[in-house]
Amino acid sequence: MIETIKNFKRTKYCGDFSVNDIGKEVTVCGWVQRQRDLGHLIFIDLRDRTGVVQLAFDEQTDKKIFQKAFEVRSEFVLSAKGIIRERSSKNMQIKTGEIEIAVSELDVLSEAETTPFEIVENSNANEELRLKYRYLDLRRPDVQDKIIIRHKIVKIAHDYFNENGFIEVETPMLIRSTPEGARDYLVPSRIFRGSFFALPQSPQLYKQLLMLAGFDRYFQVARCFRDEDLRADRQPEFTQLDFEMSFVDENDVISITEGFIKKVFKKILNEDITVPLKRLTYFEAMNRFGTDKPDLRFGMEIVDLTETLKNSEFKVFSDTIASGGTVRAINAKGIASRLPRKEIDRLAEWIKDYGAKGLAWTKINFDLSSSSSYEKFLNENEIIKVRKTVGAQNDDAIFIVADNDIKIVLESLGALRCELANKFEFIKTSEPNLLWITDFPLFEFDKDENRYVAMHHPFTAPRFKDISKLTSEPQNVYARAYDLVFNGNEIGGGSIRINDLELQNKMFKALGFSEEEAQNKFGFLLEAFKYGVPPHGGLAFGLDRLIMLMLKCKSIRDVIAFPKVASSAELMSASPNLVNKKQLDELSIRLNFN
Ligand code: AMO
Ligand code: AMP
Repeated sequence: MIETIKNFKRTKYCGDFSVNDIGKEVTVCGWVQRQRDLGHLIFIDLRDRTGVVQLAFDEQTDKKIFQKAFEVRSEFVLSAKGIIRERSSKNMQIKTGEIEIAVSELDVLSEAETTPFEIVENSNANEELRLKYRYLDLRRPDVQDKIIIRHKIVKIAHDYFNENGFIEVETPMLIRSTPEGARDYLVPSRIFRGSFFALPQSPQLYKQLLMLAGFDRYFQVARCFRDEDLRADRQPEFTQLDFEMSFVDENDVISITEGFIKKVFKKILNEDITVPLKRLTYFEAMNRFGTDKPDLRFGMEIVDLTETLKNSEFKVFSDTIASGGTVRAINAKGIASRLPRKEIDRLAEWIKDYGAKGLAWTKINFDLSSSSSYEKFLNENEIIKVRKTVGAQNDDAIFIVADNDIKIVLESLGALRCELANKFEFIKTSEPNLLWITDFPLFEFDKDENRYVAMHHPFTAPRFKDISKLTSEPQNVYARAYDLVFNGNEIGGGSIRINDLELQNKMFKALGFSEEEAQNKFGFLLEAFKYGVPPHGGLAFGLDRLIMLMLKCKSIRDVIAFPKVASSAELMSASPNLVNKKQLDELSIRLNFN
């Protein structure tokens, strides 16, 4: 119970005091970081979002206040008034380490129970506990800093896009369910019984309609929802910096994006990013790095051994090649002496998750002796040729995958490349590596659905010269799409869109939608396309991912104030949760757990 009116009109934030304030009478407010009782002296570190300042209490000076300070515990909320003085024992590690406040008035504004974990930087408390008490976790300065930097990045984005003529428009959260790649989160309608809204996976259709509406340049900090399996860089609810431009081609969108990247890296990290950024085609990225989001901070590129091994006695290689497959390798330099057999066996198991049927390997020792799972099946000439082609020397380890499916070979070696680079610390540079991936195929074949699906989304324009192949040779059609990759992660993607009704209809046909299905799913867009559509294109940054990578965080959760865990639950409020029967009845919903 608050019994008296207490003083919390503070002079400034705790972390903002310095030797320049010595002699001034000030009031500060904040949380108790810790209280140190030295017998006749008590020190309290008072914390707010800017840092800590030391409060000093001397029993000799004022017994009553000293007693109050004695009773204070960690995380109590205090206000204190006093004179700033120079500290006798300075702490140069902290901003305010040269001064302290000799307190003459102390108010306890709120008491606190012992917190479930200590509120300190770099806490080693378990993440589940921290997320359950996220408001306490957010008190920790290193956690709070990330959220404050996030604010700064969003502010830079608002300023940048505003300066470049973009208009911020809010698009709806309750929308029609349209297939966009991931599973929709659905929201039942009370009024239209049995009907559902979907939460947007992205504002894709709306931003295109805003171009049609003549806004010319649109921008939004847009919340997106995707019901998919979570990973370290994915959340079911995440934020995009989303923009769209009219009367542009790929290079216009790319150059606006690069302008933002340059600005945000300079302002936040003081890093000078050289633009234009490097560009790699999808084909080149896949062939050299086995992924469409290659990390170019290290080498270990994939090498083709198909020609070298086509006549080998080792059937795993030669039979695969004879039946149209491929054999490729990577050479991990300087790791052989640190690569025990047990680790190789682990990798051979691990790589099966990527579809590889096996992992052939060679270790070349310092004395050039070697051990290998396959060299015994090759002749001298082939052994030398393989080693030469991959550039192997002593202390190197060669890994080979053979398969009929080139995608499996490239993707599994691409994943192995990253696994080895992480484990053996191949990444030596701290400079950010950013690049564009361009010339994506328009379609990819979905084995489960047995049809082609859009690699980006169904509104992405095909290259002009490929339009005639749309239905006849879908595998050879390329998209006017581009992804932005940062240290081996996709942080943004976009494209030039289709702006022609006939072509959009053709696209839906190529994707296997009947006319009725296309009408049913995208009728409003097709209708809109009758009324004058400017050429347009855009991009969306994954804001959370961008920040996570800029701040070198391991998890996307670190840069989101109230994140969800891998099961997609939110631990603090314990959601999702069961709702009562009345709520379900209003929505005409009956639960069926079978
Ligand atoms: P896309 O689906 O590539 O494109 O999404 C854009 C960027 O958003 C980020 N992202 C995610 N971040 C966190 N959690 C997730 N579950 C998640 N999914 C995606 C990625 C990605 O690069 N409408 C198009 C954009 C366009 O064409 O303009 C779109 O949404 O960093
Ligand atoms: P085996 O003769 O089955 O003992 O295989 C010899 C080596 O070839 C082992 O290291 C296997 O892991 C490897 N191997 C088997 N299948 C493949 C494959 N498809 N690609 C690469 N290596 C393979």
